[in-house]
Amino acid sequence: MTAGGVAGGVALLPSALNTRPSASATEHTGHEPAGSAAGGGRAAAALGASFTQCMPVPQQLTPVRRSDGTDVYRIPIKTAQYAFTPGKPTPVRTFGGQFVGPTIRAKTGTPVEVTFTNQLDVVSNVHLHGAHNAAVDDGYPMDLIAPGASRTYHYPNKQQGATLWYHDHSHGSESENVYKGLHGFYIIDDPAEAALNLPSGQYDVPIMIRDAQIDANGTLVWPSSVPDRTTVLVNGVAAPYFQVAARKYRFRLLNTGNERGFRLTLGGLPMVQIASDGGLLPAPVTRTDITFTSGERVDIVVDFSNQPIGSKFVLSDVSGPVLRFDVTRTAADTSRVPATLRALPALGTPTVERNVTMRFDDSGNVGLVNDQAYDPNRVDFQVKRGATEIWNVTNTDTVWGAPHTFHLHLEQFRVLSRDGAAPTLDDAGRKDTVLVMPGETIRVQATFTEYLGKYPFHCHFLDHSSIGMMAQMEIVP
Ligand code: C2O
Ligand code: CU
Ligand code: CU
Repeated sequence: MTAGGVAGGVALLPSALNTRPSASATEHTGHEPAGSAAGGGRAAAALGASFTQCMPVPQQLTPVRRSDGTDVYRIPIKTAQYAFTPGKPTPVRTFGGQFVGPTIRAKTGTPVEVTFTNQLDVVSNVHLHGAHNAAVDDGYPMDLIAPGASRTYHYPNKQQGATLWYHDHSHGSESENVYKGLHGFYIIDDPAEAALNLPSGQYDVPIMIRDAQIDANGTLVWPSSVPDRTTVLVNGVAAPYFQVAARKYRFRLLNTGNERGFRLTLGGLPMVQIASDGGLLPAPVTRTDITFTSGERVDIVVDFSNQPIGSKFVLSDVSGPVLRFDVTRTAADTSRVPATLRALPALGTPTVERNVTMRFDDSGNVGLVNDQAYDPNRVDFQVKRGATEIWNVTNTDTVWGAPHTFHLHLEQFRVLSRDGAAPTLDDAGRKDTVLVMPGETIRVQATFTEYLGKYPFHCHFLDHSSIGMMAQMEIVP
């Protein structure tokens, strides 16, 4: 049995389920009436948030060289010591020695080549989440980098600007590897987006949000059941502050939690959403609360320009405070948020319709897609290159009542409907990952272009995909 080999996941899962992974995610859905989120109203101090550490911004990586118009990078995959609790370092698995891996900043039309060297004593590999890449460069779950080996991935970046991320995708161990730190930002910029004059440079800040279980010794605990992951890390730091100027900022929010939804509010300040997983929305959308789950990205612009020096705004989840913005200075601001951003590509004409279900088996130890655990030797869907398809994705987890998420490799999709109703604001734009609550069906549409070969689709709760909640399509000519 495919999922049977996943010792860590099997040990982890029952407790995670018993303690209801659904509990947190249920509270975090966007389906409740607006204003019911507790986050915004909670006093940070009451919940013990210290805001003693500054939020670091992940280091932007410099190419080792640029040759033939390609940016070439080298990143070791290695263990490092990292102190979640000051003075108490703990081992983590990292890209380049950093708990939040170095940010790769790419440009539409300029290829990137990254050579990863696996210095761990376990297998790894690298998937560029949200990218349109050849199958050989996708980080296929069985396509591994052995300890001591290297692999070069080629990313052509033939897609519009977007916030992507890279992470381990080694089947059965992706959950542990990502939990232990194998995650980083990969941001694509494009000229059309630059022409909009959105906040940029030091005012364009990637923010990775995830949970973790950190014990009293400062140790990153694994295996870890979901309810014990009570520490929310923001760029690797629990409850940090971030000093901002009284002007506009672009924040690229990325959720890398293994199995975690956040429902965010910003102390009454509007969050103007400009992009989702696959890039810009057609027009900015003012949000008062944002729900996003594992793997999703939301780019927002926050305008602090009318806020007095000394004012503070807490970004909160329903579980408590996450990050405090402190307005500490003035700064010039010539950026803007135009009323029109970028039109979404026209929806093609679908010719195929398929059904996808996600659930656990009755034991709770095996994840299933269409009632089967992932088998790399089985092709679940054969998709014709060039085809536009509609997939009806249903969470059939009536026994466990667990939320799931749906992630598609290779292409961005659009959510056409959610349980027959219009998609929510959280579903807007070009998406590659969405939340599907128990009993819900979402209808998504995608067009499969250019590349052939096998690509996975799966629940992006990596605790679930690692025990089988994954399937694969093969794109054929
Ligand atoms: Cu972010 Cu198949 O993964
Ligand atoms: Cu992906
Ligand atoms: Cu799941």
